[in-house]
Amino acid sequence: MPLTDCKIIDLPKITDVRGNLTFVEGGNHIPFDIKRVYYLYDVPGGADRGEHAHKALHQFIICMSGSFDILLDDGFATKRFHLNRSYYGLYVCPMMWRYLDNFSSGAVCMVLTSEVYDEADYIRDYDEFKNAAGAV
Ligand code: TYD
Repeated sequence: MPLTDCKIIDLPKITDVRGNLTFVEGGNHIPFDIKRVYYLYDVPGGADRGEHAHKALHQFIICMSGSFDILLDDGFATKRFHLNRSYYGLYVCPMMWRYLDNFSSGAVCMVLTSEVYDEADYIRDYDEFKNAAGAV
């Protein structure tokens, strides 16, 4: 799938003097039903995550606290996104190599996914990914 399918999605934000509230409905605000939620936290300075693609998994990545960058690569082009607010997120379609870095201290990365965990859905070798994406 092309990189242009991946985009920042703004979420509803209910502002309130008592504190703001944001919500996400699978199939409504994001283009898939949510089967799993996982999150990255306590990421040490200088660490990076990701460096793989998924064959069929759809993901929506939200920065719940702090900030970090996501580099997406469809085999032909790359694009870097900076996430630093909890009221928007990045939709990542299948067959997209991703690399997460520049984690601030205290950053929390929450990921909503279309399927439960399945190691067989991962492509962890970049050359294999480029082949599968038709980019070689
Ligand atoms: P991985 O997806 O490779 O992490 P990242 O892309 O953030 O670097 O997952 C790291 C480990 O955690 C790997 O051994 C698989 C395991 N894991 C699960 O068991 N369930 C999950 O939902 C996820 C995302 C990972």
